[in-house]
Amino acid sequence: MNTSAQSHSLQKPKILVARAIFPDQLAKLEESFEVQSNQEDRIYSADELKKALSGVVGALVTGSERIDAGALADAKDLKIVANISVGYNNFDVPAITAAGVMASNTPDVLTDTTADFGFALLMATARRITESEHWVRAGNWKQWSLINNPLGMDLHHTTIGIIGMGRIGQGIAKRASGFGMNVIYHNRSRLPEADEKACRATYVSKEELLKTADHVVLVLPYTPENHHTIGEKELALMKPTATLVNIARGGIVDDLALAQALKAKKIFAAGLDVFEGEPTVNPELLKLSNIVLAPHIASASEKTRRAMVDLAVKNLTAAVAGTKPPSLINTELFKG
Ligand code: DGY
Repeated sequence: MNTSAQSHSLQKPKILVARAIFPDQLAKLEESFEVQSNQEDRIYSADELKKALSGVVGALVTGSERIDAGALADAKDLKIVANISVGYNNFDVPAITAAGVMASNTPDVLTDTTADFGFALLMATARRITESEHWVRAGNWKQWSLINNPLGMDLHHTTIGIIGMGRIGQGIAKRASGFGMNVIYHNRSRLPEADEKACRATYVSKEELLKTADHVVLVLPYTPENHHTIGEKELALMKPTATLVNIARGGIVDDLALAQALKAKKIFAAGLDVFEGEPTVNPELLKLSNIVLAPHIASASEKTRRAMVDLAVKNLTAAVAGTKPPSLINTELFKG
């Protein structure tokens, strides 16, 4: 082998890490790859992303990066886009597949952390925890009172309705059983009997769920069909004492219709971790006190965020090595 061929074979494959990751995880990646990183964590414009994807064999991306035909136009060497996220509505999967690029996500590793958070948001919403804190900080707490302090809705021995009964929905159902809650669910397809039993969950229509649940939790993937799964019509079906929690994706709820329903007390309260057009939050929602707002943090424990990066790296490394990524989405592309 001549010197130039030798140095070529020693070159590390080039990859892109499109958002900031923990420095030690980045350092580990740099042992095997030439890494173009974005530790500044400023979100790329469409044009910057297109340029950043050109000349790399793999990319770690997040929901902030829209991967479509335009983004891939110059990505001739790209083998994989590895999302550091279980949801992949930022991927135009047919366009990625047509470009011959593998796509992967990070299921399982975030299930429990996200289900914990869904339950925490539900509790905060039903028991008015953040509203109470603001009330105390504002100096409103003059005396203990039976009826004149913030009164919430119970969770125990009520009915929880889960829309979207994948891994995270099932995790929430299992937590709900511990509170003696009756669990009903609606999903695109009904779960096998054994899974229903494990979750003590009963399948119902979406309409029945909205009419009967005391607490409605949304955990479904965002697809064109799921756009505004909850809008004015659905909110009108819910009980005036009911709460609504969205830990799925913005766009599943019509945020303006929700703000109007909350203002008119058509439902009791809402807890939102995701928003239409986030990080911008509809100003009508910001005016309300019967709502708990969180900045898309359902999977945000350090341990889980690290596990998400680790899984995304495993997917990327496998694709670059020509083996099957463990959580490949477009499996039809793998020719191993
Ligand atoms: C996910 O993994 O889908 C979380 O919402 C983070 O994007």
